[in-house]
Amino acid sequence: MSAPGLRGGIERFGNTVGRVLNRGGSAAAPRLDLSHDIILYLEGITVSFDGFRALNNLSLYVEAGELRCIIGPNGAGKTTMMDVITGKTRPDLGSAWFGQTVDLLTLTEPEIAEVGIGRKFQKPTVFSEHSVFENLELAMAGNKSVWRMLFAKMTPEQHLRIDEVLETIGLKDHRAARAGSLSHGQKQWLEIGMLLMQDPALLLVDEPVAGMTPQETERTAELLVSLAGKHSVVVVEHDMNFVRSIARTVTVLHQGSVLAEGSMEQVQNDPKVIEVYLGDGGH
Ligand SMILES: Nc1ncnc2c1ncn2[C@@H]1O[C@H](COP(=O)(O)OP(=O)(O)O)[C@@H](O)[C@H]1O
Ligand SMILES: [Mg+2]
Repeated sequence: MSAPGLRGGIERFGNTVGRVLNRGGSAAAPRLDLSHDIILYLEGITVSFDGFRALNNLSLYVEAGELRCIIGPNGAGKTTMMDVITGKTRPDLGSAWFGQTVDLLTLTEPEIAEVGIGRKFQKPTVFSEHSVFENLELAMAGNKSVWRMLFAKMTPEQHLRIDEVLETIGLKDHRAARAGSLSHGQKQWLEIGMLLMQDPALLLVDEPVAGMTPQETERTAELLVSLAGKHSVVVVEHDMNFVRSIARTVTVLHQGSVLAEGSMEQVQNDPKVIEVYLGDGGH
């Protein structure tokens, strides 16, 4: 890797955490502590909707820097789990910790984003009328300081950071293109890039390859694999071939709980999984 002195501060995981630590600044600001190498703890999470348990005593642990795939039939609770992690839904029971010290259940949605959890929704939300570069520039500012950003000159470090993200998401040659003119897949990558501008320690991605061409799907697999290590990545996806191509550890959800966890091969050969999920027509 070239010029580690200039770029290393952005690239190395330890420094990503350092940036998170520097956010906020108030004495009460939560701090990410990865001293036990676990970035996410979900324990005994139960979410009920009118008595129906969308999540039922769910426990899940994600290691720092890991790429985790979550699979499971429709209605298994995958999106609800993401909603709990990001503060959109509050569980009836259980605990959710980000590292050793950040109790996610005490934070609002914006605070959870601020402390270093980024979420990619299925529908891309790029600014169509702005260029790819400008989209990344706006994302770097976050919501708070867009006004200041418009009048401030970007620092060389900020320029480098945008260049680096453009490279990561494969849109270097499209930096001047209007975001609205991009293909569906390119928009998805741009949105991942916008999340990366905030340097999240944990990135949650819900069904990233829905609607993508096979080439775009393959490129997305490479992209997500390349993010692991620097970031922890949790991917929910239905597309089995995609999961097979990126998976390290796979967690199978069923009726709001973990049914099985292990390598793709282990879960595929697990009789419980075959019965409730893969055996059911393979969808
Ligand atoms: N806001 C809600 N109100 C009522 N039921 C919901 C709500 N959100 C999700 N559910 C139900 O919870 C279950 C889990 O949904 P979801 O988390 O979206 O599953 P998945 O993403 O795995 O398909 C489903 O049965 C769904 O209908
Ligand atoms: Mg879902």
